[in-house]
Amino acid sequence: MSNLTWHEHRITRDMRSVQKNQQPCLLWFTGLSGAGKSTLANALEHELYKRGHHSYLLDGDNVRHGLNKDLGFSDKDRVENIRRIGEAAKLFVDAGLIVICAFISPFRSDRNIVRSLFEPGEFIEVYVDTPLDICEVRDPKGLYKKARRGQIKNFTGIDSPYEPPEDAQVTIKAGEATVEDSVILLTNYLKDQGIV
Ligand code: PPS
Repeated sequence: MSNLTWHEHRITRDMRSVQKNQQPCLLWFTGLSGAGKSTLANALEHELYKRGHHSYLLDGDNVRHGLNKDLGFSDKDRVENIRRIGEAAKLFVDAGLIVICAFISPFRSDRNIVRSLFEPGEFIEVYVDTPLDICEVRDPKGLYKKARRGQIKNFTGIDSPYEPPEDAQVTIKAGEATVEDSVILLTNYLKDQGIV
């Protein structure tokens, strides 16, 4: 970019990481609407909090109330949604936090672009693998019903695509496993990676 200079700061990410005594990273939850992303992300964050970790949770509906309130659900807007969130998550990771993102993030290429913003091992893709029929029965917000009636256009899984991850670090069968078991799976993964 022309006429812009990147500034190196005196306090580095590694210094913040040492001070906080934790390895910053980004856990990226992806899955259909109603898959259980927010529930799992909240439960994981609660567990991290109890263990004294400093985390931050960014989640679909909330971010769309503020930072991304100008965006809808066209393919183009979803791409921009994930791009901005990836950049915001990078700032939080740079601040030394364990960041949890819970977004449908339906396009593999967008998730890979976010992955490319991070060091190897820092981006942890968590596939909340709940089949469409289960999500549709759950329908916690009544959105699938509306989509089936044609009252919502471009609804993921109905008339807008979802590309499942091919190489997720953690896959959670949220239609089968309990929330508690899923949190154990995730914390074990973080322990194995030396993150917590
Ligand atoms: S995306 O695809 O990553 O840009 O979506 P995201 O930012 O995660 O927002 C998903 C939440 O928006 C609500 N919603 C929709 N989802 C999918 N398709 C359409 N058309 C749509 N319209 C509104 C819905 O509440 C999603 O929340 P979750 O928690 O995933 O159910």
